Amino acid sequence: MRSILDITDLSVEEIDGLIATANDIIAHPENYWDKCKHKKLATLFFEPSTRTRLSFEAAMHELGGDVIGFSDAQNSSASKGESVSDTVRVVSCYADIIAMRHPKEGAPRIAAMRADVPIINAGDGGHNHPTQTLADLLTIYREKGHFDNLTVGFCGDLKFGRTVHSLIHAMSRYKNVRFVLVSPEELRVPSYMIQEMDKAGIEYEETTSLEDVMPKLDILYMTRVQKERFFNEADYIRLKDSYVLTPEKLKSAKPDMPILHPLPRVNEISVAVDDDPRACYFKQVKNGKYMRMALILKLLGVE
Ligand code: CP
Repeated sequence: MRSILDITDLSVEEIDGLIATANDIIAHPENYWDKCKHKKLATLFFEPSTRTRLSFEAAMHELGGDVIGFSDAQNSSASKGESVSDTVRVVSCYADIIAMRHPKEGAPRIAAMRADVPIINAGDGGHNHPTQTLADLLTIYREKGHFDNLTVGFCGDLKFGRTVHSLIHAMSRYKNVRFVLVSPEELRVPSYMIQEMDKAGIEYEETTSLEDVMPKLDILYMTRVQKERFFNEADYIRLKDSYVLTPEKLKSAKPDMPILHPLPRVNEISVAVDDDPRACYFKQVKNGKYMRMALILKLLGVE
C-alpha cells in the first residue's frame, strides 16, 4: 500500500508512465470506463476546493468507481474534535483510496501513517500539492514535448504557493532546467527551498520585475497571492495586485511560451489574456482530471 504525499514520492520514470496513461485515456476514454468498478474513492476536504475535489471525483466516476466524502470539515466529526488519524482510520473501513486536503502542513503524512488504504495529498497548507503538479507536468509535456532545457518563470506568491513548491521539486529533476522566481520581497520562495536548490546546483534567479525577465521564459507559471495564509489583512491588500498579467506585458514574451496558473485566479491574469493561444490554464484543469485518473489506477494496482 502506497501513499503520495510529495511529488518526489513518484520517480521520474513513474511520472513518464502516468503521462503515458493519461495520454491513452485522452485518446481512448472508453477503455477505462469500468477499470475501477466496485472501488470507492473518499475525498476528505478540510479546506475549500473546486478543481481538486471535483476532478478527483470526476476521475473516479469516469473510471466506473464510486465516491464518498465531505467538502467541509464542519459537516464531519472533525467539528466535534475527532483527530485526523481517527478520521482516516474510520474512512479506511469504507473506501479503497483517500484524497485529502488539509490546512495544516504534514496532515496527510500523519493520515498516511494511520490509514489502511493509500492517501493522496490534495494540498496541505502552504506546503505541497503533488496532484496539481501532475496536471502541470502533463500540460508542459503536451505543450512543449519535453521537460529538459527549459527556463521556467514562477510569478506571484512563491512563499505560500504550494503548487509552486511542488512544481519546483518536480522540474528540478530534469536536465538543464532554470528557474526565474518573480515575487515581492515578502513572498519569496522559502529559504529551505533556496538551500535545496543551492545544494543541488540548480540554476535560479530571484527578481521583483516580471517585465525584465519575460523575454527569456519558456514557461510562465502565474500564481494568486494566498489570502488564506496571511495573518494580517493589510499585508494581503498591499501585496495582492503585485502582478497583473495583461496582453501588453505579453508582447515581449516568446510566441510559444505556455502560460500556466493552478487557479483559482483572482486578479493576476487579466481575462483579456484568456484568448491568447499561449493561455493554458483551462487545459491544465482538464489535464488534472486525466492525471488523477492515471494516479488512482496506479495506486489501486489496476492494469
Ligand atoms: N488548483 C487548485 O488546487 O484548485 P482548488 O483549490 O479549487 O482545488
